[in-house]
Amino acid sequence: MGKTALITGINGQDGSYLAELLIEKGYTVWGILKRNSVAENQTYRIDHLRNNPMLKLEYADLLDMASLVRVLQLSKPAEVYNLAAQSHVRISFDQPVYTAQSTAIGTLNLLEAVRLICPEARVYQASSSEMFGNNIDADGYQRETTPMNPVSPYGCAKVFSYNICRNYRNSYKLFISNGILFNHESPRRGSNFVTNKVAKETAKIKLGLSEKLVLGNTEATRDWGHAKDYVEAMWMILQHDKADDFVCSTGVSHSVQYLVDYCFEKVGLDPKKYVSTAARYLRPEELRDLKGDCTKMKETLGWKPKYTFETMMDEMVQYWLDFYSK
Ligand code: NAP
Ligand code: GDD
Repeated sequence: MGKTALITGINGQDGSYLAELLIEKGYTVWGILKRNSVAENQTYRIDHLRNNPMLKLEYADLLDMASLVRVLQLSKPAEVYNLAAQSHVRISFDQPVYTAQSTAIGTLNLLEAVRLICPEARVYQASSSEMFGNNIDADGYQRETTPMNPVSPYGCAKVFSYNICRNYRNSYKLFISNGILFNHESPRRGSNFVTNKVAKETAKIKLGLSEKLVLGNTEATRDWGHAKDYVEAMWMILQHDKADDFVCSTGVSHSVQYLVDYCFEKVGLDPKKYVSTAARYLRPEELRDLKGDCTKMKETLGWKPKYTFETMMDEMVQYWLDFYSK
C-alpha cells in the first residue's frame, strides 16, 4: 500500500503540483481547504484531481488548531507538507497581523498538533529566500549559512516558522525539515506575483485586450525557477535519511526589467510603449537581490531542475495567449 500525505495549502500553486506528483507516486493525498464564501474558484488548480479516489479534501484552517487535530486523526499521514500561508510579500505590509497569525503561528499550531497526534510523521516546512532579506554572501549568493535579516512582515513570519521547526526537531526529536525555496513560478501562479502579472499582461496587450502594464520596482532581481521542479525538491527533502534544511534555487538571477524585456520580445512588442511604474506597487522596505546556491541540495539529494527561466516564461506567456484566444 502507498504512503499517506497531508498537504496544507493544497489549492495553492505549489500544493496543486505536489498533489499531482504524490498521486503519481501512489500516495493517498489529504488536503485542507479553508472556508471561502465562494466555493467555485477556490479549487480551480486541483479540479482536475477532484474525482481521483486518492485525493481527500477536508475543511480546516491553520488558525484553528482543533481542525488540524481532527484532520491529522482522520488522515494519519506519514508525511505532512506545510505549504499554507499568506504568501504575498506586498500584502503582508497591509495585513501584518493576519500574516503573522497564518504564516508564523499557523505553523506552530500544526507542529503542536503533529507532536500530539502523529509524532512519527515527517514534516516539510515551506521556508523562503525572503528570510535572508538583503544579506548576501561575499560571492553574491545566499545559502543555508547566510544570516537571516527579513525586510517584510512575511519574511519575519517565515523566520519564526523556520526557527520553531528547528526547535521542535531538536527538542522533541521530530522529523521536521525546512526547504528554503527561492521564487518559483508557473501558469498556476497568482497573477498578482510579478512573473505571472507580466506574462498575462503581455499576452493581453499582444491580443489587443489591454494597453498598459504598470509595475513597481523593476530593478529588483530574483532567482526564478519552475514550481514543478520545486515540488520534486520538497518530496526529496522528506525522503532523506535525516531531517535537515536545504536551499533550493536555480543559481541564475534576472531583474524584473529583464523579465519584461524577455516577454515583450517573445511576442514582438516594444515594452517602452506600454510599461510604466507606480508607487502603489513599491514596498515600504525592498528586498533587492536574490540568488541562491543550492549545492547542498544537489550534492546530498541529487536534485536537478528541468526548466530554465526561458522555458518557464515561454510556457507562461503561451498559457495566457491560449487562454485569451479561446
Ligand atoms: P499560494 O499559491 O499563495 O498558496 C497558499 C495556500 O495557503 C493556498 O492554498 C491558501 O488557500 C492556503 N492558506 C492560506 N492561509 C491559510 C490558512 N489560514 N489555513 C489554511 N490554508 C491557508 O502559495 P505558493 O506559491 O503555492 O507557496 C506555497 C508555500 O511556499 C507558501 O507557504 C509560501 O509562502 C512558500 N514559498 C513560496 C515560494 C514561491 O516562490 N512560490 C517561495 C518560497 C516559499 P486559499 O487560496 O484558499 O486562500
Ligand atoms: N508582485 C509584484 N507586482 N511585484 C513587483 C511588481 C508588481 O507589479 N513590480 C515589481 N515587482 C517586484 C517586487 O518588488 C519584487 O522585488 C519582485 O518583483 C518579485 O515580486 P513577487 O513576484 O511579488 O515575489 P516576491 O519575491 O516578493 O515573493 C515571492 O517569492 C518569495 C521567495 O523569495 C513569494 O512567492 C513569496 O511567498 C516567496 O517566499
